[in-house]
Amino acid sequence: MDKIIKPIERLHGQIDLPGDKSISHRVVFIGGISRGKTRASNFLRAEDSLRTISAFRDMGIDIEIKDKNITIAGKGLKGLRKPGKELYLGNSGTTMRILPGILAGQTFEATLTGDESLSKRPMDRIIEPLRKMAVDIHSKNENSFPPLVIKGGMVKPIEYATKVASAQVKSCVLFAGLYAKNITSVTEPFTSRDHTERMLKFCGAKISKKHLTVSIEGTAELNGKEFFVPGDISGAAFFIAGACILEGSDITIRGVGLNPTRMGFLDTIIKMGADVTIEKRIDSLPEPYGDIRVRHSKLKSIVVEEKDMPLLIDEVPVLAVLASLAEGMTVIKGIRELRVKETDRIFSMTENLKTMGVDIRAENEGLIINGRKKRFAKAALNSFKDHRVAMSAAIAALYAVGDCQIKDIECINTSFPEFFDILGYLEK
Ligand code: S3P
Repeated sequence: MDKIIKPIERLHGQIDLPGDKSISHRVVFIGGISRGKTRASNFLRAEDSLRTISAFRDMGIDIEIKDKNITIAGKGLKGLRKPGKELYLGNSGTTMRILPGILAGQTFEATLTGDESLSKRPMDRIIEPLRKMAVDIHSKNENSFPPLVIKGGMVKPIEYATKVASAQVKSCVLFAGLYAKNITSVTEPFTSRDHTERMLKFCGAKISKKHLTVSIEGTAELNGKEFFVPGDISGAAFFIAGACILEGSDITIRGVGLNPTRMGFLDTIIKMGADVTIEKRIDSLPEPYGDIRVRHSKLKSIVVEEKDMPLLIDEVPVLAVLASLAEGMTVIKGIRELRVKETDRIFSMTENLKTMGVDIRAENEGLIINGRKKRFAKAALNSFKDHRVAMSAAIAALYAVGDCQIKDIECINTSFPEFFDILGYLEK
């Protein structure tokens, strides 16, 4: 389905956002293997998180979901049942990469499949550490792409250094480490999001962190808990960007996750001159959250270094939109991981922004963007079936000289089905 986006004047008002996608997945991962009930409010009902729910239901876990409240009747660490069929995970890379860590400790074989995009995403990054942990796992084809077949059993602890900073890889190894005797540790080149560590600790796992190394002790059980899933900072980023760009904007986003390992986008745009304030901060466990107020302001260019990349990895597409309107030349370094996201996001963002008249080029696995001083050209844009590319295009289109068309817009349902409703509410 295509969608026409009309330019608008400004964004104004107060909104709440659906729950964070990473945290919502983890509520199900952890709830499904805890003892007793796990409950969460503001759970994200989007295609990706619903895939994780259906995988756990297929493995015998009772999950009730009413509006945004979820209740999971966990059956303990080894309580999953052999699914009667292949587990289809749609577009969800997070489920494909983290679930094998849990399956490593079960007593059955399972096959994980995905859609066309997920079937082209590299899985060697989890296959390698899991094999070192003595887990029987393989890809059904010659490369490391899904489908994956995993046979659970004994798990050996390891000390593992990841090649890329990836929360999915780290989480997979940590979950597998729950099933191993003694201590498993993961060392990353740079810190990635730490929701797994926080949430596992909250439910009773023995986890510690020293510099870039996270260690977990094999454990007998986790306890079901109550969670509030804060609003998704990655979803908030689109409206924040819109408010930065459009003159006269003033928005407040309530109850957004403020986990320091997800703050890269806010920190970066504040350095670019964005007018952002955290109005209320609640340091609750396991995740902090608060209200974010954003008003329009002129932005200047910036250099983003590779070490900061994991803290804003999902926000690079919308950051590229902001950089396209900032004064001067922005350089975003070390983003080769963007090549293996839902699409090659370096390619898809470069294509769309070029069509809108932006001077942007990909160089040395980075982006170089020369900010322009006027509105974007009106253009026919492509989502490339990638939700974050689609939402970034929609925000850019708000500041175009005429109507823009975006192709295959339905991919937004992967992470943010309410995106256009909330945008419509803020449009003034
Ligand atoms: C996620 C980790 C990140 C991120 C993805 C969600 C997670 O992926 O891009 O949207 O929930 O752990 P990588 O681990 O590949 O960096």
